[in-house]
Amino acid sequence: MPSVYLETYGCQMNVADSELMLGKLAAAGYDHTENPEGADVILVNTCAVRDNAEQRVLGRLGELKGHMKRDTVLGVTGCMAQRLGQRLLDAETRVSLVVGPDAYRSLPELIDGARHGERALATDFDLEEHYEDFQARRFEGVKAWIPVQRGCDYRCTYCIVPYTRGSERSRALADVVRETRDVVSQGLTEVVLLGQTVNSWNDGSGHFGDLLRAVGAVDGIRRVRFTSPHPNDFTDPVIGAMAEVPTVCEHVHLPAQSGSTSMLKRMLRRYTREGYIDCVARLRAAIPGVSITTDIIVGFPGETDAEFEDTLSLAREVGFDDAFTFKFSPREGTPATRLPAELTVPEEVVNSRYTELLQVVRGIARGRNMARLGERREVLVEKEAKRGGQLRQARSRDFRSVMVPAESAEIGDYLTVELTGTTGSTYTGTPVAARAPLPVAR
Ligand code: 5AD
Ligand code: SF4
Repeated sequence: MPSVYLETYGCQMNVADSELMLGKLAAAGYDHTENPEGADVILVNTCAVRDNAEQRVLGRLGELKGHMKRDTVLGVTGCMAQRLGQRLLDAETRVSLVVGPDAYRSLPELIDGARHGERALATDFDLEEHYEDFQARRFEGVKAWIPVQRGCDYRCTYCIVPYTRGSERSRALADVVRETRDVVSQGLTEVVLLGQTVNSWNDGSGHFGDLLRAVGAVDGIRRVRFTSPHPNDFTDPVIGAMAEVPTVCEHVHLPAQSGSTSMLKRMLRRYTREGYIDCVARLRAAIPGVSITTDIIVGFPGETDAEFEDTLSLAREVGFDDAFTFKFSPREGTPATRLPAELTVPEEVVNSRYTELLQVVRGIARGRNMARLGERREVLVEKEAKRGGQLRQARSRDFRSVMVPAESAEIGDYLTVELTGTTGSTYTGTPVAARAPLPVAR
């Protein structure tokens, strides 16, 4: 059997797409290998959201070439393939396949052609494509990524995604439920519903709240998560479903991008600072203990000191449980690149704001984590901890990462722990033994 090696960069949607590609290729007779050395086919599933993601891939392609046999097929898939298209084929002579996110159905034929010396570009969008008949090959032991929506219609001015993944379309509710049942039958108990603005999901028959209710009710599912929502799509019925469905976890990753209304306007985020804060308040009122994490961009064109201060104050006011921070990266063809050049924020200003933001969000997260020491959580044991064989990594429903002693639980187990220590970002947890009855005092 020919073998295929695949590496994934970027978001969970890409991870899910990689699982679909490997499923499709397994059905076509390819063996999956975890070693690029000697593989017949090497695929790199890429991200285009920031320039540094692309630079990493270009560097990695150089390294992978060193592992290749004379007849190994090297293919680039995903957002960078879609964005660069023919330019990538022209620049990378060893790459014989460039395949965008809507064209994975043709991968087996394209690879066949490439093994016979052809080079191919497949970057057409297909608004009907959800890869319904593909059997994903899943690698996460305890949870399943389930795409429920592809593409994006929001068109924030900094973002390349609408250009690399096309217009928004939703998968039918029945298909998502069927896949959820499938993953339960494979022994998984957690699903993560994926979409670029996942809570705008609408298959023509209902809204995202209906999807949460349907997926959350599948027998055997204990945890439902989703990522990433847009604040404007948290309608009352959606929040109501989150609050009422017991399997929906108490965590929302809610990208803010900025805390300044004028900046949000230039980003075309379609909400104000107050609108964002109100959304958080509604989530917190409906879902006790919900943790809120976010994405923030610094150095978007024209960012003033006052606008940056608004972002810092938003972080303090909301009290994010965690935040991913990014330096603005201009993406060719996006509206932000057409803003006047004099609005570009000087690199040293971006760097110092980035450092300050990171300190602030880390400080807030640490404070919030410290305050929870001594509390109990149900955790799902996900995998071996990176270092040492003594610990396993587990997650609480509110998305806190907890290290538990390896001997106390197998991967896939649920257990109740007391949060006994924290580095500020992750916890150590001690399993709570069943309480012995208290001796009766006489
Ligand atoms: N520059 C920097 N960060 C970006 N993101 C998206 N586009 C850009 C860009 N051009 C960030 C946003 C988004 C996350 C996935 O990546 O914060 O939420
Ligand atoms: Fe990009 Fe905005 Fe769409 Fe998110 S909502 S994918 S940031 S355009």
